[in-house]
Amino acid sequence: MTTPEAAAHRVPAGERDFRSLMSRFPTGVVVIGALDGAGRPWGMTCSSLCGVSLDPPTLLVCLRSASPTLRALTGTGTFSVNFLHHGARYVAELFSSGDPDRFLRTEWHLPELAGGPHLRDAAHAVGDCRVESTQQVGDHTIVLGRVLRTRFPATAGDAPLLYGLRRYAAWPSEGSVVPTD
Ligand SMILES: Cc1cc2nc3c(=O)[nH]c(=O)nc-3n(C[C@H](O)[C@H](O)[C@H](O)COP(=O)(O)O)c2cc1C
Repeated sequence: MTTPEAAAHRVPAGERDFRSLMSRFPTGVVVIGALDGAGRPWGMTCSSLCGVSLDPPTLLVCLRSASPTLRALTGTGTFSVNFLHHGARYVAELFSSGDPDRFLRTEWHLPELAGGPHLRDAAHAVGDCRVESTQQVGDHTIVLGRVLRTRFPATAGDAPLLYGLRRYAAWPSEGSVVPTD
């Protein structure tokens, strides 16, 4: 006979449960950038970054399949990964807000051979990537990117911005992690 506890374990997790589960896994925060065919910049806040392989250097990100940023990067085949420092929380919020003017409200540039827009003040490291492959899973698409170049701009802050338990935090200089609000 099935106990109520055993039955509860078989109930498939819904979106809310899944978000709750993943919120227990803190990460850094990046902005994925890409240019479309007309040279217009696109970008979105992302925490689903994962290093995959050292040789060749490869990472993956999972992006909403309907995202215009995904459309741009699959169109041109390149993208940038802007690693946000702890002072760039406003940029993380801007690039997750759906604001169509996000690139008018933050400093960016396109250095030679950039894979996508580089955020001038917000990023303390940037990787330029070539799209190796994509795979759609549910409502998101996994993008595997070969890292072709890395840059470590001198910025005001070099400690990474963190996100977990549905809030931002700063990398601690010592002791515990400090919430940014
Ligand atoms: C901290 C944080 C991390 C996020 N990580 C992801 C992610 O990994 N993949 C994703 O598709 N959306 C992620 N989002 C949500 C997108 O940033 C948000 O949907 C954004 O509006 C997408 O831009 P777009 O509408 O131009 O595609 C994240 C949001 C936040 C605040």
